[in-house]
Parts: sequence; structure tokens; C-alpha cells
Amino acid sequence: MKIIDNLKWRYATKKFDNTKKIDNKSVELLKEAVNLTATSYGLQPYKVLIIQNPEIREKLKAAAWGQPQLTDASHLFLFCNFTEMGPDKVDNYLELRAKINNLNVADSADYGNMMKGHMASLNEEQVKTWTSKQTYIALGTLMAAASELGIDSGPMEGFDKESFDNILGLKERGLTASVMCALGYRSEDDPFLAFKKVRKPLEEMYEIV
Ligand SMILES: Cc1cc2nc3c(=O)[nH]c(=O)nc-3n(C[C@H](O)[C@H](O)[C@H](O)COP(=O)(O)O)c2cc1C
Repeated sequence: MKIIDNLKWRYATKKFDNTKKIDNKSVELLKEAVNLTATSYGLQPYKVLIIQNPEIREKLKAAAWGQPQLTDASHLFLFCNFTEMGPDKVDNYLELRAKINNLNVADSADYGNMMKGHMASLNEEQVKTWTSKQTYIALGTLMAAASELGIDSGPMEGFDKESFDNILGLKERGLTASVMCALGYRSEDDPFLAFKKVRKPLEEMYEIV
């Protein structure tokens, strides 16, 4: 199975070759892969900022304990989850769904009310936890897709979210930084290349019930 080889090849890259850039066609494929990720109800409650501005990257690096991936990687995808899930978000989804499937949006009123009811039952922190969880599914898709394209990735949640939100003006936009992924090509002298994958034996991970 090719996916197993890809997943074995992938590792959390710490040192990127800053001379190598991902071509535009591959970036478009990565964007599409993320967009095709499953989310709860299909609401896609996040936005992905592709941070290419070198000055902003330097600022973010300072708020991420100086991790060099932030400035050396070809591309930086920052997943930002929605901080609120008002009824408008559900309506937007249902309108898009009706348009794409040629449905009458009024027929989805009960389904919409169910989703709105669920969102309304969550407090502010619960909403953020729920929307943030969705970004991690997309992160997994992104890394798997990148590995298929021979692109290295470095997932990161080691950063000060408050500082990221301030640097990027996220709160005003109803967003907050969740998790990010540096993408590009490994430097052959990344010390982490020497390490073998550390994974539990399958017997320990799985249990047949
Ligand atoms: C959500 C998430 C956040 C992570 N955050 C960081 C990080 O901030 N810095 C870092 O160097 N590695 C980070 N890692 C990488 C993990 O340490 C790494 O994936 C793990 O040790 C397994 O190694 P492998 O991915 O090379 O197989 C993160 C991984 C994940 C999935």
C-alpha cells in the first residue's frame, strides 16, 4: 500500500532546506486536499492562513520559541478555528449545500434547527474546543497529502496562541490560532532524519471488543 510507505517516509521535519520551494501546482493540490477534509456536519469551522510574508513569519517565530521551521519552510499553513458558531454559519452551509445539490433550502429547516440547537447549547469555550478539533482532522489530511507529493511537513502547536492572534489580528475576525504546519523540503542534515519512527506495537494500540 502506497499510503503506508508515504506515512513511513513522513516525519515531523524540524530543519527545512530554505532554498527549496513548493511549486504552485502542488500548493493548489494541498489546498484542495485540506478543503476535502471531513468536518462535523460539514461546517468547515475554520480558515487556513498561508503565511508567506517574511516579516510576519519572523514575528510568529518569536512567538513560537524560535522554531526555525517558521522561517525556513517553503510554506506555512496556519489553521484558525472560528470562535463563535452563530446561526448564520449554519445558514451559509445550508445555502451552499442547496446550491450545489440543486435543493430547496427551505426543506433543510429542521436539519438546520438541529445544528443551530447543538451550537447554541455550547458555551464559548466549548465552541472553540469543537471548532479547534476540526482543524486537527485537516492537519492530518494535509500531512498525508503532502507525503504523497514528496513534500515534507512539520506540524506545530508549540506556539503562544494569544500572541499569534494579536500579530495576525485574528480575534476581530472571529478566529483564533489552532495549529500550524510548515511545508517544504527536508534539509539532509536535519538531525531528526537519523531517528527511527517510535510507535507502540499494534497489539498495544488495538483491542478487539
Ligand atoms: C498536533 C501536533 C503538534 C506538534 N507540535 C510540534 C511543535 O510545536 N514542534 C515540534 O518540533 N514538533 C511538533 N510536533 C511533532 C511531534 O513531536 C511528532 O509528530 C512526533 O514526535 C512523532 O514523530 P513523527 O511525526 O516524526 O513520526 C507536533 C505534532 C503534532 C501532531
